[in-house]
Amino acid sequence: MKNTNCAIIKGKSPHQMLGNRDQKAAMVSDIMLSSLKTVDDDDELKHLIEDIMQISDDSFYVGDVGELINSFKLWKKLLPNVTPYYAVKCNDELNIIKVLAALGCNFDCASQDELTRVLSCGVDPARIIFANPTKLRTHLIYAARHKVQLMTFDTEQELEKIKEHHPDAKLLVRIRSDAKVVTIQMGHKFGCTPENAMQLIDKAVKMGLRIVGIAFHVGTGCKEPEAFPRAIGLCAKILKEAKMKGIHLNTVDVGGGFPENEPDTFAKMAELLKGALEEQNDTFKGINMIAEPGRYFAGSTFKLYASIIGIRHNPDVTWYYINRGIIGAFNCVFSENLTRYPIPWKSRSDNLKPSLIWGPEEIQKDLLVKEILLPPLKDGDWLVFPTMGAYTVTLDPVNWLASSKPKVYYHVSKVDWDLVQEANGKSKEHLHLANFV
Ligand SMILES: Cc1ncc(COP(=O)(O)O)c(C=O)c1O
Repeated sequence: MKNTNCAIIKGKSPHQMLGNRDQKAAMVSDIMLSSLKTVDDDDELKHLIEDIMQISDDSFYVGDVGELINSFKLWKKLLPNVTPYYAVKCNDELNIIKVLAALGCNFDCASQDELTRVLSCGVDPARIIFANPTKLRTHLIYAARHKVQLMTFDTEQELEKIKEHHPDAKLLVRIRSDAKVVTIQMGHKFGCTPENAMQLIDKAVKMGLRIVGIAFHVGTGCKEPEAFPRAIGLCAKILKEAKMKGIHLNTVDVGGGFPENEPDTFAKMAELLKGALEEQNDTFKGINMIAEPGRYFAGSTFKLYASIIGIRHNPDVTWYYINRGIIGAFNCVFSENLTRYPIPWKSRSDNLKPSLIWGPEEIQKDLLVKEILLPPLKDGDWLVFPTMGAYTVTLDPVNWLASSKPKVYYHVSKVDWDLVQEANGKSKEHLHLANFV
């Protein structure tokens, strides 16, 4: 790793150097847990993670920077003409923002706090969209002050607010266009009807505001790739109608909804999206295509490590209690009706038994996995939950069991880190990666 103040572990790894547990805890927290680590082989990574386990009572996340880079590369390969604006609400970790910024990704922020985080990394405000159709006045004023201009709206009231507090904003009207199969639908809450969109565009023009395009979000966890060409069809109609009225829109924002850890589904969405744009080539010529992927980038970048803090042996099924639950990392169990299945860190025994996993909260809903076959596990054993980067760490609270949010540790290979540094060197902003937190 070049040019950073992160410790690089060379030669003996800390687990080899340390003796008793206390000594280990002290040294590990000084050397190893401070920040990003360059790790080039799986064994070294395994040992580093085991060192963290030795000193952790709480669950923790491990972020794989290489995975984030791979997702970015795949996006550029399959959707080269659609500029991604990473949806920060999905995972607002500064390291994710910095790596994506260095690679050339733009950002979708939904609040003042998210704007502050992205701007604090040195990102040019022209690379940010304030993609919340219902903004707080103070947040809007903050955006105006910091020259964040691109934003969405879907009502007349929002236009009035923007006129008063940010009259120079560049506006995208957000329309409703839901996927038929989706984890969380957005359209019941945000997005005007396509018919209403033209009225809002007219209204914005009459008010002397700068209307520049259209946005939609098919819903998060979209399982229907055809939702994208359908929404593109609606946008095409609006673009044509506006043009006939002499209003030249120049941007279409295809939102989020792209899957985590499902490259084939992503490839299908990309193919259908590109196909729809080619079919309407005349209408979309010269249009700046952008998107707001969240889950796609963050999901598979993080794994969550949680340990067993209690066991109950019932006649037919063993209950395990772990140290992270539905309030926070596993909110997806009720908000998205999703189950995250773990893999035991150590035991690979074939003696699998019907099991169930509870979180630590004093509520019945904290049932994380209703049915799973697990080998016999002991108190203190660790479970690994893959694909835990989206809408998890951002929502993890300090709770009665843990005095802080779970920590996040990052690793990256030397080749990948060099790539990030090189991209950053070429970028306009030259982010301070030396302050990688
Ligand atoms: C306006 C907006 N853009 C983008 C996203 C990111 O969606 P996803 O994580 O499905 O890509 C969301 C998610 O809630 C959103 O509300």
